[in-house]
Amino acid sequence: MANTEELKQEFLDICKKNIKREGIDELLKWICSSDFFQAPASTKFHGSHPGGLVEHSLNVYRCLAKIVERYPDAKISPETVAITALFHDICKAHYYKVGTRNVKDENGQWTTKEVYEVDERFPIGHGEKSCIILQWFLKQLSVDELLAIRFHMGGFDPLVKGGDQSISRAYTASPLAVMLHLADLEATYLLEKAE
Ligand SMILES: [Fe+2]
Ligand SMILES: [Fe+2]
Repeated sequence: MANTEELKQEFLDICKKNIKREGIDELLKWICSSDFFQAPASTKFHGSHPGGLVEHSLNVYRCLAKIVERYPDAKISPETVAITALFHDICKAHYYKVGTRNVKDENGQWTTKEVYEVDERFPIGHGEKSCIILQWFLKQLSVDELLAIRFHMGGFDPLVKGGDQSISRAYTASPLAVMLHLADLEATYLLEKAE
């Protein structure tokens, strides 16, 4: 595993090489001032270690780039791949805190262990929050990019339980949205193991 500083540099290098959109400098300033590059990807499901979130974002980027290559007719640009993959989980900046839990060690003795806990201060929805934060900075996100980021959770999105059909409409309208969800699944369940 690369160290957090190397992962951060790789993330920033991909942004600088591929993203020319107005507002990118301000977005990168914001993300560098947040806890994004130190944050975990989840509390315990995948990437639950410092730097897990940037590692996950880079994994999704690589998976999405490969999927996009297989569908040249979709004409998805390297800039769109970078924006949607690297920032799909920007909603997880300022989202976790370190707490403690009492657990039994291998000798059956109770001990206090540090764990990540969710500390949501802007509870507006997962994909929705990523779209909103990105639009604070990037004023020209396309409908395709917004649909992909908004619906990257696919069937795991709680709106599916209520019978909302927006996801299937979005996936019909936007091949990119399907691809980003596939890339997120591949990174989460095939590349990153629960710790
Ligand atoms: Fe996500
Ligand atoms: Fe993700």
